[in-house]
Amino acid sequence: MKMPGGMDRPRGLRYQRSDFREGESMSGHGEPIPMTARKSGPLKGVAEVPGDKSISHRALILGAMAVGETRVTGLLEGQDVLDTAKAMRAFGAEVTQLAPGEWSVRGVGVGGFAEPAEVIDCGNSGTGVRLIMGCMATSPITATFTGDASLRKRPMGRVTDPLALFGARAYGRQGGRLPMTIVGAAEPVPVRYTVPMPSAQVKSAVLLAGLNAPGQTVVIEKEPTRDHSERMLRGFGAEITVEDTDEGRVITLTGQPELKPQTVAVPRDPSSAAFPVCAALIVEGSDIRVPGVSQNPTRNGLYTTLVEMGADIAFENPREEGGEPVADLRVRFSALKGIEVPEARAASMIDEYPILSVVAACAEGTTVMRGVKELRVKESDRIDAMARGLEACGVRVEEEEDVLIVHGMGPGGVPGGATAKTHIDHRIAMSFLVLGLAAQKPVSVDDGSPIATSFPVFEGLMAGLGAEIVRAGA
Ligand code: S3P
Repeated sequence: MKMPGGMDRPRGLRYQRSDFREGESMSGHGEPIPMTARKSGPLKGVAEVPGDKSISHRALILGAMAVGETRVTGLLEGQDVLDTAKAMRAFGAEVTQLAPGEWSVRGVGVGGFAEPAEVIDCGNSGTGVRLIMGCMATSPITATFTGDASLRKRPMGRVTDPLALFGARAYGRQGGRLPMTIVGAAEPVPVRYTVPMPSAQVKSAVLLAGLNAPGQTVVIEKEPTRDHSERMLRGFGAEITVEDTDEGRVITLTGQPELKPQTVAVPRDPSSAAFPVCAALIVEGSDIRVPGVSQNPTRNGLYTTLVEMGADIAFENPREEGGEPVADLRVRFSALKGIEVPEARAASMIDEYPILSVVAACAEGTTVMRGVKELRVKESDRIDAMARGLEACGVRVEEEEDVLIVHGMGPGGVPGGATAKTHIDHRIAMSFLVLGLAAQKPVSVDDGSPIATSFPVFEGLMAGLGAEIVRAGA
């Protein structure tokens, strides 16, 4: 089937925006897709997870800001990234799918963005909307952004505050929510900004805005967060330095470079790999391989944590691919014990706490996760969503504003037999479906459709390993 813009519908994607009526967002408005996971036999085989979501967004955006043709291979064709592709077209770049995972971006250069004629709908993607606001905020154009019901609840002030320092103005709903109009600065000035919360999206928005400001823009982060923007900006030829100081990590970008088009090979997403990896750890007798997974130290906190819990994971053939360290993982069922996850590790595994709390429920002893309040402003309030769903499955959980504690029930100990609410959150949906593979009774989710935002081939991939996950009525 042809998608708007001449793209072929990526294989395995089930819930394209084009399936819904014009003007409606995909998530939260289409028919919910209830799904159920049942206790499964040993998981076996090879799990080839899709490309990294963070890197995919950035490859399209920096490609659009370079002069000439960027080629991307291994692009994640999840709805979040497709929404960013559509947005880059709206700002004047030519973005074309050449083959599954293989894309061409003809960029317009730093400062070359056109004013979009339509509202930019970023669907479910906080990364998409925040990075795109950053990259247009220092051009003399105006753009209006919106998203689905989940994204419209999320705070944008964390991005529009620093963008105002460049001279951009933002007009949104109360509490800095979407829909929101950004009036880009006609004469931007460079900024020096300390990011008040650990957020790679905020850091990246400021750096992207800094590209079209004269002079040096400096971003300081107290705790290091994922560094894909810094790596890729360097790869596209920007002058950027990173220094670890007493103040924190100081990133200095020289504005108004000419970005040179690149060939970007997107490594597989460690956050998506987390689902088959954790499933194999908790389903008795499992032994799977997950090749080519990014092991970027700003992203691999989950894997360090799992090893500390006693996980049998071998990291084979460590190598560099597309400027990122990667390894082939071999994962076997393991008897796990609860641990205290160091607070300082939170940023490097922020998207993995939902699936970690499932693993913790299947471990012996208690797992304590502190310093996790950023989870409350993700696609859903993930502390609340996990706590309520785990409790419904018979697991004892304690929750504070910034803390999640899960009392493990040991291998095969989780009763299950409940339906978890996913709140338009892909990672909540996948986490509870993984729990169902190891719980005594099936675990259902009220809506699995958001899985398509980040992991469109999840169902097929898990079925290939032997996981019993079905849609209601199937
Ligand atoms: C992302 C940063 C993180 C993460 C998100 C992707 C990115 O968000 O949760 O899934 O690509 O920069 P925050 O920056 O809000 O922590």
